[in-house]
Amino acid sequence: MKKILVTGAFGQIGSELVTKLSGLYGSSNVIATDIKEKNQLDGPFEIIDVTDKQRLHDVAKKYEVDTIMHLAALLSATAEKDPMKAWNINMGGLVNALEVARELDLQFFTPSSIGSFGPSTPKDNTPQDTLQRPTTMYGVNKVAGELLCDYYHERFGLDTRGVRFPGLISYETLPGGGTTDYAVEIYYEAVKNKAYTSFIGEGTKMDMMYMPDALNAIVDLMEAEPSELEHRNAFNITAFSAAPEDFAASIQKFIPEFELSYDVDPNRQAIAESWPNQIDPTVAENEWGFKTNYDLDKMTKDMLEKVKDK
Ligand code: SER
Repeated sequence: MKKILVTGAFGQIGSELVTKLSGLYGSSNVIATDIKEKNQLDGPFEIIDVTDKQRLHDVAKKYEVDTIMHLAALLSATAEKDPMKAWNINMGGLVNALEVARELDLQFFTPSSIGSFGPSTPKDNTPQDTLQRPTTMYGVNKVAGELLCDYYHERFGLDTRGVRFPGLISYETLPGGGTTDYAVEIYYEAVKNKAYTSFIGEGTKMDMMYMPDALNAIVDLMEAEPSELEHRNAFNITAFSAAPEDFAASIQKFIPEFELSYDVDPNRQAIAESWPNQIDPTVAENEWGFKTNYDLDKMTKDMLEKVKDK
């Protein structure tokens, strides 16, 4: 991994991943791409609509990249509002990116998600290899994506790798249209109003992770020796499992007056309830040394400081 093209570079993950990769590999070796230009970057930027395969091919070729990190996708709640659009962007974009990787022989990363699991998946300590029958379009896209990435590895020998991300919490760029977005909003509202009304109900546990741990996971997985990897697409990873009241209790350690209330959104609640409470990341730990630095309270302390600064 020496020269990397990132799609969806201005999204929640992309905006921080580009900075991280630039620090590690040099900013001229990270080609940020997105559907429109937002802010000025140190390194190269190109507009790419991932449903345009030729454009993706041309940009990858122009910069002679050796790796694609394909992040452009619609999240779970947005996908449910327009399932066909989600299919076209999530599946169309992925197969285009995989085809470009095949044509130019590139290493490949794309994230899967806890959304790739469904109501029939074991909810606690969800194993790496288990039932995946999701009931959302996003989940269908993620499972199909995992299978497609494994297929490109088996069939064409492509070096494809992925993780199943939990809800990601970060302060640089807001997530858009995800079911786990409440876990980001709660920090902004805690700083602004010392109160938050959650659209996810009390007691609804989901896996979560602070962005610095997520970025380390991507780099560690991509740098792992291929011979160490028995699995590829995609590894269970998580930092902790939490419900809204767990975030509130953690925030109250720093802002004692903080108050949590609920106004549950039935659509996003149904999605959350179809996902696991807590997945088991042991296989990722064993195969490529996955680890995290942030638990809930350590993350809360950092998030509150960073959001305040903003
Ligand atoms: N954070 C994502 C979502 O809520 C899950 O991968 O859609």
